[in-house]
Amino acid sequence: MRLSWLLSLPAVLSLASAVAIEKRDADFLSVRTKMHKDMSGRRGDPKDKYFRKSRKLFHPHYDGRFADHQLGYRERKQALSNLIQTYLATMSDIGVETWLMHGTLLGWWWNRKILPWDSDSDVQVSEPSIQYLASYYNMSVFHYKTPRIPEGRDYMLEINPHYANREQTDKLNVIDARWVDTTSGLFIDITTARYNLTHPSGEGMLSCKDGHEYRDTYIFPLRDTFFEGTPAKIPFAYKEVLEAEYKKKALTLLDYEGHHFDEDKLEWVPVNKKYIADAKKKAEEKKKEKLAEDKKAEEQKALGAPEKQNQQPNSNQAESTKLDGPQVVKKPTNAGAPKN
Ligand SMILES: *[C@@H]1O[C@H](CO)[C@@H](O)[C@H](O)[C@H]1NC(C)=O
Ligand SMILES: *[C@@H]1O[C@H](CO)[C@@H](O)[C@H](O)[C@H]1NC(C)=O
Repeated sequence: MRLSWLLSLPAVLSLASAVAIEKRDADFLSVRTKMHKDMSGRRGDPKDKYFRKSRKLFHPHYDGRFADHQLGYRERKQALSNLIQTYLATMSDIGVETWLMHGTLLGWWWNRKILPWDSDSDVQVSEPSIQYLASYYNMSVFHYKTPRIPEGRDYMLEINPHYANREQTDKLNVIDARWVDTTSGLFIDITTARYNLTHPSGEGMLSCKDGHEYRDTYIFPLRDTFFEGTPAKIPFAYKEVLEAEYKKKALTLLDYEGHHFDEDKLEWVPVNKKYIADAKKKAEEKKKEKLAEDKKAEEQKALGAPEKQNQQPNSNQAESTKLDGPQVVKKPTNAGAPKN
């Protein structure tokens, strides 16, 4: 069913005005227009880590070289949407194959959009692609002017020099590149899926430096789809890939991270905590009632009373299993993020 609307979604947004205004070798100062102070907190990070985190001072999903504060819920949602749209459009323009992964792929699964509680996006490229990007596009700044960004905005592609190290032992540099919104500091992590020539499972295994591994037939041939209204690609066996990473439940659970999935609107809607707590309590009560009823029926049966046909279908049963089940299998927000 989900597959059927894969190809039928219209491209809502066109990003025709992508112009690379500066190629190669832009330094930070030339693209950092507003910040006077680097908030990335680099001092606390290991020396050999290229993409350092600003965890200490600020937030791990903002590039401290470009920002000093977090955005609000709506602003962030908009900025992340622009970020992935401009990334996908740019890669398509320069002929680089890239595909959605991790929490971003999970967002695609639900409604072809970024999960509203995520503050980053995850994409992958192949090894030849990262080599090409490193050779020709490191520190390139792309200027985008779209109906949603009429004032224009600069996005920078930065390649980790450690991309050349293929080994998973290089734990500090599992992210090979970043697509950075130089206005908000938000970014997309780009990881590389490399053919692993020494994998015990034999030929055709892809390994990422963050430890994820895939048989190539799960990834290729990539499928064409849309994400945030923009043409995008996803792994061939996207469902298996998602289930392996997040467990089956993450593909069906309608309540997650303080949001409820509205199946009519096809949107994750924020719900307040009280609503969830109330729903949980109600489900508990229903469960108790049902137990009491079952007990009563059993007693009656023991007394020789005629057995009732399973009473009424419990309309709240579906709801209660949802809320009783484990809420979070694995936080998608952390997926693929480097552990440091
Ligand atoms: C990209 O440019 C930055 C800034 O000049 C540099 O630190 C980094 O090593 C470069 N990456 C590659 C892959 O050359
Ligand atoms: C190949 O796979 C093995 C087993 O998972 C892993 O230990 C090794 O680091 C991988 N090599 C590369 C280059 O990713």
